[in-house]
Amino acid sequence: MINSAQLDGIALVVGSGRGIGKEVALSLAEAGAKAVVFADMNEEWAKASSEESAKYASSKDYQTSVFVMNVEDAKSVEDMVSFVIERYGRLDYCVNAAGVDNGVHAPLADTDIENFDRVMSINARGNFLCVRAEAAAMRKQTPKTWTSRNGTRDIGRGVIINIASANSFAGLPGKGSYTISKHASMGITKMAGLDHSPDGIRVNAVCPTWVRTPMLEEELQKNPEVQGMISAAVPIKRAAECEEVSDVVAFLCSPAASYINGASLLIDAAITTTLRLF
Ligand SMILES: NC(=O)c1ccc[n+]([C@@H]2O[C@H](COP(=O)([O-])OP(=O)(O)OC[C@H]3O[C@@H](n4cnc5c(N)ncnc54)[C@H](O)[C@@H]3O)[C@@H](O)[C@H]2O)c1
Repeated sequence: MINSAQLDGIALVVGSGRGIGKEVALSLAEAGAKAVVFADMNEEWAKASSEESAKYASSKDYQTSVFVMNVEDAKSVEDMVSFVIERYGRLDYCVNAAGVDNGVHAPLADTDIENFDRVMSINARGNFLCVRAEAAAMRKQTPKTWTSRNGTRDIGRGVIINIASANSFAGLPGKGSYTISKHASMGITKMAGLDHSPDGIRVNAVCPTWVRTPMLEEELQKNPEVQGMISAAVPIKRAAECEEVSDVVAFLCSPAASYINGASLLIDAAITTTLRLF
């Protein structure tokens, strides 16, 4: 039987200083990754998360390092991938979690253009730059196989997971820039999954609704009405815990998910099945 605690490769988590990215990195370490690289623009947060990961890692030779970068800068993204390959020799699991919120909610006609550009530059272009560099490195490495009770199968050269959003599927009034950027992230996931399937690279997205992270705390300060939306609209009446996202990412990285590609998996407690959110 395969479970998501059967990872044995090298992981890179972009945006792992705090929040979902940090928890994903801890889950991958717990699931057996041999090394986890913590990439973030905030060095202090990335260092603290990297140190904490050693507490949970299950590989006896576990290694961890930090790379300070900015997803808005193509060279910084390429240097990050080169760093992983030079240090660890390959790149098996990449998770792209760096992202920013919309800021104050406003109807589309009142959207601040500078804010729109910033959100798109980080959440959409930044996601694209990461996937582009990661896939370019992965396609050069040798594919892996997995042996189970029914024989041996090819599980490919690597896995990329984008942290998209329930807003990749549906809008939220006043959250235009973010929703548009997260639709782009789903497009990147589909295209990269399609184009790089022949290279043995799987690219998927997880699409959570509200998750209890520092970003959500900041959003609640700017838009207090969001607390009411969570209680009224989420069928289980609460935001997700980070682990309820990070453990799904570990599954998607595992051999159990070797036929899942180009998919955007909702983690939304059925919120998007409703016709009206509030
Ligand atoms: N929290 C939620 O409710 C929620 C819901 C759905 C999707 N998401 C998505 O999950 C991802 C993570 O969100 P979070 O809530 O954990 O956020 P967060 O703000 O808690 O953490 C984001 C991390 O990304 C880093 N980062 C931000 N911009 C960066 C850049 N330009 N370059 C490098 N690193 C950068 C930050 O330093 C931070 O460590 C985002 O893409 C977000 O859109 C969050």
